[in-house]
Amino acid sequence: MKIKEIFTTMDYGPALESKAEALAWLAQHDNLVGHFIGGKWTPARDDFATTNPATGEKLAGVTKGTSADIAVAVAAARKAQPAWAKSGHKRARVLYAIARLMQKHARLLAVMETLDNGKPIREARDIDVPLAIRHFYHHAGFAQLMQDELPDRAALGVCGQIIPWNFPLLMLAWKIAPALAMGNTVVLKPAEYTPLTAMVFADICMQAGVPAGVVNIVMGDGETGAALVAADVDKIAFTGSTDVGRKIREATAGTGKALSLELGGKSPYIVFDDADMDSAVEGLVDAIWFNQGQVCCAGSRLLVQEGIADRFYAKLKARMDGLRIGDPLDKCIDIGAIVDPVQLAQITAMVSANAEGETYQITAPEGCFYPPTLITGLSPASHLMQEEIFGPVLVATTFRTPAEAVEIANNTRYGLAASVWSENINLALDIAPKLVAGIVWINGTNMMDAAAGFGGLRESGFGREGGWEGLAGYTRPKASAKPIKRITAFASSDSSPADPLDRTTKLYIGGKQTRPDGGYSRAVFNPRGKLLGHVSEANRKDLRNAVEAMNAAKGWSKSTGHLRAQILYYIAENLSARGDELAKRLKDLTGKSGTAEVEQTIRALFTFAAWADKYDGKVHGVPIRGVALAMHEAVGNIAVFCGEATPLLGLVTPMAAAISMGNRVTLVTSAPFPLIVAEIYQILETSDLPAGVVNILTGDHSDLAGHAAKHHDIDAVWSFSGADISATIEKGSASNLKRTWVNNGTALTPTARDWLAAATEVKNIWIPYGE
Ligand code: NAI
Repeated sequence: MKIKEIFTTMDYGPALESKAEALAWLAQHDNLVGHFIGGKWTPARDDFATTNPATGEKLAGVTKGTSADIAVAVAAARKAQPAWAKSGHKRARVLYAIARLMQKHARLLAVMETLDNGKPIREARDIDVPLAIRHFYHHAGFAQLMQDELPDRAALGVCGQIIPWNFPLLMLAWKIAPALAMGNTVVLKPAEYTPLTAMVFADICMQAGVPAGVVNIVMGDGETGAALVAADVDKIAFTGSTDVGRKIREATAGTGKALSLELGGKSPYIVFDDADMDSAVEGLVDAIWFNQGQVCCAGSRLLVQEGIADRFYAKLKARMDGLRIGDPLDKCIDIGAIVDPVQLAQITAMVSANAEGETYQITAPEGCFYPPTLITGLSPASHLMQEEIFGPVLVATTFRTPAEAVEIANNTRYGLAASVWSENINLALDIAPKLVAGIVWINGTNMMDAAAGFGGLRESGFGREGGWEGLAGYTRPKASAKPIKRITAFASSDSSPADPLDRTTKLYIGGKQTRPDGGYSRAVFNPRGKLLGHVSEANRKDLRNAVEAMNAAKGWSKSTGHLRAQILYYIAENLSARGDELAKRLKDLTGKSGTAEVEQTIRALFTFAAWADKYDGKVHGVPIRGVALAMHEAVGNIAVFCGEATPLLGLVTPMAAAISMGNRVTLVTSAPFPLIVAEIYQILETSDLPAGVVNILTGDHSDLAGHAAKHHDIDAVWSFSGADISATIEKGSASNLKRTWVNNGTALTPTARDWLAAATEVKNIWIPYGE
């Protein structure tokens, strides 16, 4: 082409990045990928191929890890862990060395990522690799600070980590950096489509002086992943599809393994009529066409205010026409290849099956490419508006009012991220707290950083990665947990009452004492076998009524911390006034003096009253022209299965922690000592607590736990009851992936901050700020 022609057409010339070095690196390794275990490569096999999706050429043969390989890797990690956990400063130096070496090999990593995944080299070079490096720098800092800033926390031990193919190196960094910083060792399984940058990373670990066994990488597919889930690890950290996340939740239920799940999304991208439209259009390029839309937090659901919809769609289509799609190694390319023909077929099938709305597509080259697509005029309930497509397909609908925008935005089973576009700061900051999402970007999209927690709600999973909040997921309290001593209720065949005025307690639902639906009650005896009274046996219907009462009390979450503190102090005051009576009652129930327990209960109420208006969020210094506000929000409706030993303290502490943060709670009383309920509801009735904020049930834990875990309007379930109850809850929770906090049969000793963390979700709101 002549210079004159170039000036006439103003066409881009291809600017191809060389793949020679990356291919040479693979050739040095015989184009075979083995496992990296105990600081060494294992003999590699060609069990399956990893290919360049843009060309279909085979890049390397990959070894599929077996259960035996996983066991060897876990053993290596186990052996290395105690020494690794010893010195935060040593860990900081190693993490820093990794970051420096990644910088030195940045281009190799970027090209390898593009070859293996098909993403544009511009993205691999400017986003994936720098962000991965930043993660190691940032967490080198956390390793250094752990001893001073987290003195009560210890490493979990060995962490099994399973990552997807959409950001192979970045996800590896998100998983490995915090785990290592906190003194854990890891066994990581990369995705089957994209093992190559993990292999380069293993090489970097050797150069950086990572002690043998601290980082282990086992290659393989879903079966290898399942073997890792089943192995003797202390935690599973998973990023991937919601379906596999659910399987992992079920597989780990009751095992005591910690779990974090970062799953799918269908994140809304809301454009108000006062938005800067050109910026919002440009934002969409990053929201849905970044990485071919294969991004869990992709802004894949466009919601546009009706009055500007036609103009906005026209601008968007014009912008789409300018997108360049093709060879990912070309530095001028916006859209690269889809990761694999299997994924391409899935996207194609989903879009072809849709008959609704209007579809606009630009053309894509032959091969493993999918054209950027816009589908407008879909109804909020349409399949494509609800299901994750995980491709460059944007679906759109319109809304009329801000309230309607919120309603449509939240009409999804996911809750990962959201973008809000408006030039009106009042509107944007009014909407952000109303969105059910772990991350909200204001006038921006897809921003991620090591300093800000990333993660979602609902079926987008639980746990956060990054920032201070991400560290909790890789640590446990220092004090080691002891098994709880189970207590069985006192029994007797003598049904003559100890007190002639035997009582039958009711349930406490929606601020009222209510009879149980089933009409059953159970006798409660004192230690000498005398009948103390009867308690109602709550069933599934009573639990549902309690959930309805919690739903009706949603206003509590909007009340001020100051008000919640006042009410908690007032409950403490009322409880204190009846202290002697309560202590005596505890003695009747348990046979042990209740004086200390009453005192501790009043302290617990004071503690959470104190915290109600002090558990502040954070302002993360993220490297954009802005800040990320990490706001604490109430989790929502929490069901609690109270511990056995201390019926009063074990009921009031979770209650106080939950309601101090604005949650509504349904408590199921201590299994052996349920009769305490009578005293409690009398106190609550005189406490100014709005109806439905606290509900109390008595009944069989195993029956109610299953129902609570599966109930879709319960956002979290806590259990301090027996190990069997923990397992039931974790297993049942897989249905909607609700948050669980269970003791797995050990005596938890949470600090006030542990309680508060369980009672809150962190929402990171990214706000443009300053210059
Ligand atoms: P996937 O969830 O099957 O794979 C993710 C990782 O989990 C891979 O390393 C895989 O080997 C492993 N894995 C698969 N089955 C497993 C099991 N039973 N136990 C343990 N590990 C297992 O995702 P896949 O098949 O690659 O993609 C399917 C769909 O998932 C995509 O179309 C997309 O919708 C979604 N996805 C979402 C991601 C996200 O970040 N939210 C990432 C990747 C995929």
